[in-house]
Amino acid sequence: MRHPILSVLLCLSVGVFAGCQGGGSMTSQGVESGVWGDLDGDRVQRFTLRNGRGMEVDLCDYGAMVTGVRVPDRDGRSVDVVLGFDSIEEYPEKSQYFGCTVGRVGNRIGGGSFELDGETYQLAANNGPNHLHGGDRGFDKHIWNATEILTSRGPGVRFTRTSPAGEEGYPGTLEAEATYVLTENDELVIEMSAVTDAATPCNIVHHTYWNLGGHGSGTILDETLFIDADRYTPVDATLIPTGEIAPVDATALDFRNGKSIGADFEAFPPNGDDPGGFDHNLCLNGEVGTLREVARLTDPTTGIVMTISTDQPGIQFYTGNFLNGMIGKAGAAYEKNGGLCLETQAFPDSIHHQGEPGWSDVVLNPGNRYEHVMVHRFSTD
Ligand code: BGC
Repeated sequence: MRHPILSVLLCLSVGVFAGCQGGGSMTSQGVESGVWGDLDGDRVQRFTLRNGRGMEVDLCDYGAMVTGVRVPDRDGRSVDVVLGFDSIEEYPEKSQYFGCTVGRVGNRIGGGSFELDGETYQLAANNGPNHLHGGDRGFDKHIWNATEILTSRGPGVRFTRTSPAGEEGYPGTLEAEATYVLTENDELVIEMSAVTDAATPCNIVHHTYWNLGGHGSGTILDETLFIDADRYTPVDATLIPTGEIAPVDATALDFRNGKSIGADFEAFPPNGDDPGGFDHNLCLNGEVGTLREVARLTDPTTGIVMTISTDQPGIQFYTGNFLNGMIGKAGAAYEKNGGLCLETQAFPDSIHHQGEPGWSDVVLNPGNRYEHVMVHRFSTD
């Protein structure tokens, strides 16, 4: 590890927090922060949130990202369940959106352009013919402003950044926020929000790669997944939704009874440049805008369980199909399917389906606020 966190222990000692005894021990609740390194001469900071139950979350202001989540397994051993790198310098070179906040529009926009109020906006086509995850230099490749916070739910960090009008081709100056809080209920709460001064599409997405067996423990194919979704959005060969909203019945995408991820994996075999595997948007049941539990992931070896609750309409289930053996934290090799993403979101390419039944409004107008909540809750089975 190149840059151990400098011990600037901010120990937030009010309310439910016991305060720091012994200068940052495993059980101290609060935020620890320090300089992690620099990128192109700009200082990058890292933060560690701790609760009083042995859970820790590492965050970084580059990409407003999660770089580690350590949770106790069923035997009480601490397991880091997030893929990442030991030094910040490795992220721009090797990361496939590891842990970051993706924007201004996460996932794909077909053909890399859209029309809004009679104007055509041309974006980077950085994924074949399509625009992916905000373009050439999306929100994940910028250093955000960071403020350590203490909320009634626990310690956290609020990241903010201004995305100027025209950035990556998008209209309107967008003020974006991504706030992380670690609670005493072993929840990592992520709240993303934005306001704008001109109409713009907005779909900010969190992109952590999880492996509840521990990062670097092999593939996630033996983990069990439940997703509360009756329908999904079928896609074309370039992963752009066809517009149809189809039932998951009798498809490999039916996770309503919970099943091992590997069980129906052969339904999506490799094909040419397509490495195969799951990379699909499922349409979540329940009311959009209401926080509800939508997914549950369990690892058979560690017994670690993660549930996800969200207020969003969709979730991209992606099985790390493009992971290529890159060396991550502590020398671990991240092979294909070595981690998975569960990215709550508006459906991909929604900007081309505005007003169609089942599709949500992704245009943010001045005076309104984009809001997106994700709660990751950890326990053991
Ligand atoms: C997308 C994948 C893409 C990956 C990049 C996911 O959100 O669904 O298609 O390859 O991000 O890391």
